Formats: sequence, C-alpha cells, structure tokens
Amino acid sequence: MGLSVKRTQTLLVLPGEGIGREVTAEAVRVLDWLRAKRGVAVEATTAPFGSDAYRDQGQVLPAESLAKAKAADAVLFGAAGGPEFDAIPEAARRQGNLMRLRRELGLFADLRPVKAIPALADASTLKPEVIAGVDMIILRELTGGVYFGEPRGVERLPGGKRRGVNTHEYTSEEIHRIAHFAFELARTRSRRVTSVDKANVMEAGQLWREEVQAVRDAHYQDVALTHLLVDTAAMQLVREPKQFDVIVTDNLFGDILSDCAAMVTGSLGMLPSAELGVPDASGRRHALYEPVHGSAPDIAGQGIANPLGAILSLAMALRHSFGRPEDAALVEAAVIDAVGETRTADIALAARPAVGTTAMADAVIAALEARTATAPAKRRRAT
Ligand code: NAD
Ligand code: IPM
Ligand code: MN
Repeated sequence: MGLSVKRTQTLLVLPGEGIGREVTAEAVRVLDWLRAKRGVAVEATTAPFGSDAYRDQGQVLPAESLAKAKAADAVLFGAAGGPEFDAIPEAARRQGNLMRLRRELGLFADLRPVKAIPALADASTLKPEVIAGVDMIILRELTGGVYFGEPRGVERLPGGKRRGVNTHEYTSEEIHRIAHFAFELARTRSRRVTSVDKANVMEAGQLWREEVQAVRDAHYQDVALTHLLVDTAAMQLVREPKQFDVIVTDNLFGDILSDCAAMVTGSLGMLPSAELGVPDASGRRHALYEPVHGSAPDIAGQGIANPLGAILSLAMALRHSFGRPEDAALVEAAVIDAVGETRTADIALAARPAVGTTAMADAVIAALEARTATAPAKRRRAT
C-alpha cells in the first residue's frame, strides 16, 4: 500500500440488555479517554440490539445493526437475555439472537483469558495459594456444536407428551480450524494445550479428540497436548487451576468452564472475551468483544454492576483489532491499580464500602491518568 495513511477505525457498540447497557457505557468512557489522551483513532457508534430494537423496529437484530457490525473493525457487545428479551416471541428471538450474530460474523474462536489479579485474591472463594499465578486462556469453539446442530426443537408426542431435541455435532474441518488456532496460540505462550471433551460418551467427542491429536501430530510436535474429560476438567479448574495454559474445547463446554474459571479472578464480572473470525486476504477479520457475564437481571438498573469485564474486553479489542497493544496493556494495568482501592460489590471487601459502576470506571480512568502522568524516568511497568 506504500505510505500508510492512518484512518479512523470503527467500534460498533451493541449494549443489548440489562447490565450490558451499563458496563458498555463505562468501556466507551475509557475509550473516550484513550482517544483524547493517547491518540487512539477509534470512533465508537452505538446500534440497537435486543428488546429495545424489537420494540422500536420489530426485530431483535435489525438489518442495519447487522450491516454495521459487519462493516465495523470491531464490535463491543454488552449482554443478551433477561426478562425483557425472554418476553419476545420465540421465532423473533431466534432470528436475531447472539448466536445468529456470531454465525453471521463467522466468530469461530472465542478467547476467554483467566488471569489471577493478586490484589483480588481476597475476593475469590478459592484459597490464595490455589489461584496465585494462574494465567490461562480458555479457547472456546463458538460457531458449532450443540448451539447450532440440527435437528433441534420441541415436538408434541401422542398422548400429550413432548420431546425436546438438540444435536451436538462437529465436522473434522471445524475441529481442525479451532485446533490450529489453539496450537498457534500455545506457541506464543508456554506451548501447552489441554483439549477438553466428553470422548467417553459422545461420538462427536471422540472425533474431537482424534482430530485435535491429528492436527498436533502433523503440525505442532513442539506443543505438548493433553486430553481431559470435561467433568475432570471442571474439577481440576478449581483444584489446581495453575496447571492450565491453553484449554481448547467445544462451544458448550467452553461456556460452562469459563464461568467456573471466573472464580479465579474473584468474580464473573471481571472476565473479558474476544470472539474472532477467519482473516480475509488482507488479514482483516470480524471481531466481537464482550464481557463473559450476562445481563444480570438480579442487579440490572441499579448502577452496581462491575464494568471491568467490559473494560478489559475493550483492552482485548485494542490488542486484537486496533493494533494498540501498548494501550491494551495500559488499560489492563490501570484495572489492576484501580481494584487496589476501589471495588464494586461483587469484589468488595467487607471492611470498605462498595462503589457503583461509574465510580469503578472513574477509578480506572484516574489510574490511567496517574500512569501516563508519571515522568518517563519513574515509569512503571504496564503489566
Ligand atoms: P449472569 O452472568 O447474567 O449473572 C450471573 C450472576 O453473576 C448474577 O448473580 C449476577 O448478578 C452476577 N454478575 C454477572 N455479571 C456481573 C457484573 N458485571 N457485576 C456484578 N455481578 C455480576 O448469568 P444469568 O443470571 O445466568 O443470566 C442472565 C441472562 O443473561 C440470561 O438471559 C442469559 O441467557 C444471559 N447471558 C448472556 C450472556 C451474553 O450476552 N454473552 C452471557 C451469559 C448469560
Ligand atoms: C456466553 C453466554 C451465551 C452463550 C448465551 C447468552 C447465549 O452464556 O456468551 O457465555 O451461551 O454463548
Ligand atoms: Mn456463558
């Protein structure tokens, strides 16, 4: 392309439901700070998704929102689901739910990093020595498995009974794609992959195990591969989480294990995720970033949700979509600084009152200010 012309990159924000709206608003404030103070040339626009979109336009995922999501350099998603969403008729929900969005954008690789924050050791229900030093990534396959398999549905049986069906399925191609991603990722870390399946019961799990092993043997002999059954993996995640580096698993198991692993950080509200598509010829890929948590109907509208999972998701976007790894590290460091003194209720200490969503983000912005105001000679490490 010759001389590179810096263009403004675009972030489409889909706040969605419940606390998704509250936490994405705070992540956007952090982005505003980065734009003003760090020259991050990323423009954020918001589009409707979910119950608001259905009420105003009759569609959960309006065509215009989908087109904007496809055109954007990245999407920041809040949360789906909850009572307002569940009140929408089934067919309309299916037309535009989060699964459809993931499928439309081809987001097959879901990175869910789980890193212990020493300052939050006291917020976890796990013992400090169990979580100290944990640094893993759960790589969840996101466009296959039981989430998408056909046939699916509920049918009426003679005599008034009903039968519900879902289909867990994977092709070797889908397994190879996520396996390659896992092994490439492991090469940037400590070259260890744990593949998690249910090969002892499910044929599709057996296929998963064989194909992951085949990809490793053919292309990644420098990476150590272990297989675990999912029930054991769940137990090992709380028994000794330090043993894991990259965990690769299917759509359903990845969903479950990541909420479980969140307890390493003290709260589900801390976990970010990056959902990545297949790169095109120019290396550009669709990407959606979202906190791992949901719409949290039990606390929605109260201004008390933890915005750090959303803010850390923005950091992942800076790293994986916007080519700003230093700003990503800066935001991550500011989050660690902030929780030293300031905490929302989910991670609060009994001794100190909890703050609300906006005050938590204020503390992150104050930490960003403090870190960048420090003279270069006194620079602190942004880790
Ligand atoms: P949830 O993640 O919304 O909440 C689980 C628990 O964690 C609740 O007690 C909640 O208050 C707490 N929690 C979650 N995020 C928090 C935060 N940021 N700060 C403080 N506390 C937080 O899971 P759920 O209650 O099982 O599901 C509610 C709805 O959200 C469902 O409709 C579900 O389908 C949906 N959901 C959506 C996503 C998503 O959009 N990616 C993820 C999970 C669940
Ligand atoms: C997640 C969520 C979603 C999932 C739901 C809302 C469909 O739990 O992103 O973890 O199961 O993928
Ligand atoms: Mn989930």
